[in-house]
Amino acid sequence: MSAQLDVAVLGCGFMGSALARTLAARGANVTVWNRTPERAQALTASGCSAVATVQEAVGRARIVVICLSTYEVVQAVLGDAGTLAGRVVVNMTTGSPDQARPMRDRVAEQGGGYLDAVIVGYPEQVGRDDFLLLVSGSEPEWETARQPLALLGGISRHVSESPEGANVLEAATVGAFHMTILAAFAEAARYAKAQGISPKEFMPLAVRVASVLEFQQEEIAQRLADEDFSTDQATLATYEKAARTFQHALSSSGTRAPLFDAAVAEFGRGVAQGRGEDAVWTLAANRDDA
Ligand SMILES: NC(=O)c1ccc[n+]([C@@H]2O[C@H](COP(=O)([O-])OP(=O)(O)OC[C@H]3O[C@@H](n4cnc5c(N)ncnc54)[C@H](OP(=O)(O)O)[C@@H]3O)[C@@H](O)[C@H]2O)c1
Repeated sequence: MSAQLDVAVLGCGFMGSALARTLAARGANVTVWNRTPERAQALTASGCSAVATVQEAVGRARIVVICLSTYEVVQAVLGDAGTLAGRVVVNMTTGSPDQARPMRDRVAEQGGGYLDAVIVGYPEQVGRDDFLLLVSGSEPEWETARQPLALLGGISRHVSESPEGANVLEAATVGAFHMTILAAFAEAARYAKAQGISPKEFMPLAVRVASVLEFQQEEIAQRLADEDFSTDQATLATYEKAARTFQHALSSSGTRAPLFDAAVAEFGRGVAQGRGEDAVWTLAANRDDA
């Protein structure tokens, strides 16, 4: 077996366990370590070797996948790793962009190469075609890690030479966008339920409304790139008036909807700035007065 496929997985929580199981099932030589040893031990049934110390796990590996709860925990665990010379650390722990570069430097001090990676998906997606891993860091390290990471299925993509690149993408898409959508969905579902609409009726309609972004994605991307906010479809002012009507519907029903209230305020702010005749995407523009 190629040394490239000698992989250590540090952290056997929900995600780390899914990563270790999939890597082992697809031919990697996987060593696992976890603070609570039982979770690492459970992975021996899937063909992984469980070890008692971080140093032992790292010592057996060329690629060190880290999937712990926070970067602070990663820092602490690396303190027990010993030398990382000849190894590439792939840190899949969720973190903010400003944490990536210090982590890269920290790993370099221990002699190792570093990639920062973002998992866009749930543990059940690991190994499937819809698994998505975004990786940032220098090209030679990506070349070293590419083959084992490909075993995870889906698309592993190198998105940036800068260590923070993947975390920026994650903060924008999974963070500011997806997490707000989840909370907004919960608000909407509460309102629908209180009005006697069944989840089976509500759900497909909600998905259909959300998919507007999917079928307009190329046009929207072009308009954002060009800062072209002209429209012959719907102005921000039209959105704002409609939004106030819906806000009345939700508030008069007694539904607490702080995210929707914030959206209405954003539309109102854009109109007050004189952007009412623009398309709604005008709100995505960085303006000095925004
Ligand atoms: N689950 C997902 O859908 C998902 C998706 C994308 C990204 N992620 C990211 O993946 C990372 C892991 O998530 P998860 O869902 O696997 O979480 P989890 O099941 O809660 O696992 C957390 C892991 O961190 C370890 N840990 C926590 N505190 C520690 C400490 N002080 N010292 C040593 N180890 C410690 C835990 O060890 P013990 O077992 O000993 O507690 C466990 O291995 C997170 O950064 C998460 O944001 C998760």
